Amino acid sequence: MFQQSRMPEHMSQDRLSKTATLDAVKAGPTLTHVAIIMDGNGRWAGQRDLPRWEGHRAGMVAVREVIEGAASAGIAHLTLYAFSEENWSRSPVEVAALMTLLEEYVKKEREKLADRGIRVTVFGDIDRLPAGARGAIDQLENTTAEGEGLQVHLAISYGSKSEIVAAARTLAKKCQAGELAPEDITQELFAGELLTGDWPDPDLLIRTSGEQRISNFLLWQLAYAEIFVTDTLWPDFTREHLFGALLDYRNRDRRFGLVDA
Ligand code: IPE
Ligand code: IPE
Ligand code: MG
Repeated sequence: MFQQSRMPEHMSQDRLSKTATLDAVKAGPTLTHVAIIMDGNGRWAGQRDLPRWEGHRAGMVAVREVIEGAASAGIAHLTLYAFSEENWSRSPVEVAALMTLLEEYVKKEREKLADRGIRVTVFGDIDRLPAGARGAIDQLENTTAEGEGLQVHLAISYGSKSEIVAAARTLAKKCQAGELAPEDITQELFAGELLTGDWPDPDLLIRTSGEQRISNFLLWQLAYAEIFVTDTLWPDFTREHLFGALLDYRNRDRRFGLVDA
């Protein structure tokens, strides 16, 4: 008698719907730059009666998810806010745990990232980091330096106001030295002095955990970004959540101050 075979694993309903989401993303125009404020690790841990660092560790899985998701969706730049200038004021225990997790992440992921042609660079006030974390960042950047696919930018020890002040200071010094006239300072010149250099501005900013604020992230660069806030806590964020945000972006009407035709 004919026996109905089990549906192969790769054809399961779950798998089909995931494929459909990626297919839907790839069917339309891709956006160039997605930035993410990865928030909610502490609350994720709190809901499980776990210490906060367990939330940060769980968040590393979501980092892998969005990097792979962004690469498969054809995104060119992915900027992830991992640690802010203000986060230095958290408890020494939490800060130390985050630094250790960074080292762990690099050890575990750098070869895989390089194999996939993904390049990772870090921006922020890195000099404030302990030597072990700085060494890990060097290894991460060196191992992935040849990557010509997705460009991942990790914001660590980053604060946007400090970045803007540093850019202003650099330009002021050039003026003082007679190398630059104040009237020659343009938006392009100013943007070129920011840590984000010549990357295109983000098209889309995603923030997890429901908070509706920027928290000193890319204040200049986000001038016209579309904002997508989700209640999902960062450790629960998957590539399907990313695809959902990318599809939502497609329905936005970016006017840049103009009016509809
Ligand atoms: C984001 O999660 C990670 C960092 C800021 C380092 P949080 O640690 O801010 O988690 P919540 O906001 O307390 O839930
Ligand atoms: C922003 O999250 C910084 C990062 C995600 C790295 P925070 O949790 O530090 O931001 P606030 O304090 O809620 O604004
Ligand atoms: Mg937070």
